[in-house]
Amino acid sequence: KEENVEVAEQDALIVVSNRLPFIITKNPLTGDVERKSSAGGLVTAVAPVVAQCKGKWVGWTGVFYGPNEEPDPIPEADINDKTPTAGIKAEQIVPVYCDEKRFKNYYDGCCNGGLWPLFHSMQDRAVFSDDHWQDYVAVNELFAEKTVEAIRNVREANSNVTPLIWIHDSQLMLAASTIRELSKKDDIPIKIGFFLHIPFPPFDIFSICPWSKDILCGLLECGVIGFHTEGYCLNFIDCCHRQLSCRVDRSAGIIEYKDRHIRVRAMPIGIPYDRFVQLAEEAPRVIKRTTETVILGVERLDYTKGLIHRLQAFEKLLEDHPEYIEKVYFMQITVPSRTNVQEYQDLKQEIDQLVGKINGKFSTANWSPVRYIYGCIPQSELASYYRDASVALVTPLRDGMNLVCKEFVACQTGDPGVLVLSRFTGAAELMQEALLCSPYKIEEVAEALHKALQMPLEERTMRMQSLQRREKKNDVNTWMYMFMQAMESNLLKPDQKIIT
Ligand code: G6P
Repeated sequence: KEENVEVAEQDALIVVSNRLPFIITKNPLTGDVERKSSAGGLVTAVAPVVAQCKGKWVGWTGVFYGPNEEPDPIPEADINDKTPTAGIKAEQIVPVYCDEKRFKNYYDGCCNGGLWPLFHSMQDRAVFSDDHWQDYVAVNELFAEKTVEAIRNVREANSNVTPLIWIHDSQLMLAASTIRELSKKDDIPIKIGFFLHIPFPPFDIFSICPWSKDILCGLLECGVIGFHTEGYCLNFIDCCHRQLSCRVDRSAGIIEYKDRHIRVRAMPIGIPYDRFVQLAEEAPRVIKRTTETVILGVERLDYTKGLIHRLQAFEKLLEDHPEYIEKVYFMQITVPSRTNVQEYQDLKQEIDQLVGKINGKFSTANWSPVRYIYGCIPQSELASYYRDASVALVTPLRDGMNLVCKEFVACQTGDPGVLVLSRFTGAAELMQEALLCSPYKIEEVAEALHKALQMPLEERTMRMQSLQRREKKNDVNTWMYMFMQAMESNLLKPDQKIIT
């Protein structure tokens, strides 16, 4: 259910993100363009605010056009679309178009081949190329130019508003400097904030990036820089101090740069908590708790998620505790991701083989230990798996925050399950009532699974209630409000629910 968002006139939110808040597809046969809303928590929280304050959303459409091709107009939302994104009119979308070669260098090459592994402290996987970087710079400039267009548009519509630019994630770490430079000429007062959705690594790792200084300087053109955890904030401040010799105040989260004071804040993202509770309450039963014990894993297929280690841990559980044979199974739902990148293709093969090996080793006539789904499943169905699983096994090798563990917690509306969580997720910083483990230590994860499967109801209830209280309070509304507050924006009032 979406509530009316009352917003003051003074700020107009301009969101800048690699992807738009919906997916645009072009039917190759009919040429028709369709718009399909995205269900992610970020989009659900941010979209209603953009819609209500007559803001803009700058992003890549996902469709490539040839040099002589006229881009299609952005479609309006379908009249039956009741999601928060539907409130955003086509005129509020500022599409970024880019030729395919340049985009691939930027996205597959620089973002996914270099920055993603490095920021997840997997420097051995990172590949750095000057060509990719040049296109990263160029695409960031493209986004920045479009943002400046959006700034002018919102001011033309209402000269009293202050454009509040909110840039998202590692794909756009340079955009702020071009935005600032270009908008200086217009003499329009603007506020720029940035939020990083992935970890920010420590100095020794970050400085491996050949363009680390450019990235820091790009980010420091923002007034507020948000990260998921205190740890990432400290890493960032440390890098600015050591690489750029900035004066910093670690405890206040302030960096001095070009006579400006930049605020660095921890803003842990949450989920649309109440929506997941509702989904779990309404979802049909897919697992029979009385006869089936399920350990559940859900993620994008990504090497940071520790899928191989996780399968090995489950294998170890069956080796060490044969009493679970024919009693427990591990269900892994893996969503395809970045399928153009070789590393992701290789990982898929490796997982397929390991699933086959474990099933071959332990299966009996009536039971196979691993059920593996490779594909997308609707959120309502996912909610029923969350609700009915006995254990959620969330063991990334490194993860900025991780929302799966939070969604699992929200969906425990009946007999509570147990969360086994990697210490190396941003979520673990607060979710201390989970069974925390190191995904690198296979025995430790196997033992945590055993403990989870044996945990008495009283302990499960106590742990889960306390996790639920925290996640309900720190939901995605709170996150949105924290950002607005850090930006000194009057767009949202405290405790104003954007989505329920
Ligand atoms: C992570 C990143 C996002 C990204 C998402 C999906 O959550 O922080 O920026 O959009 O993964 O990845 P993709 O490359 O498909 O956008």
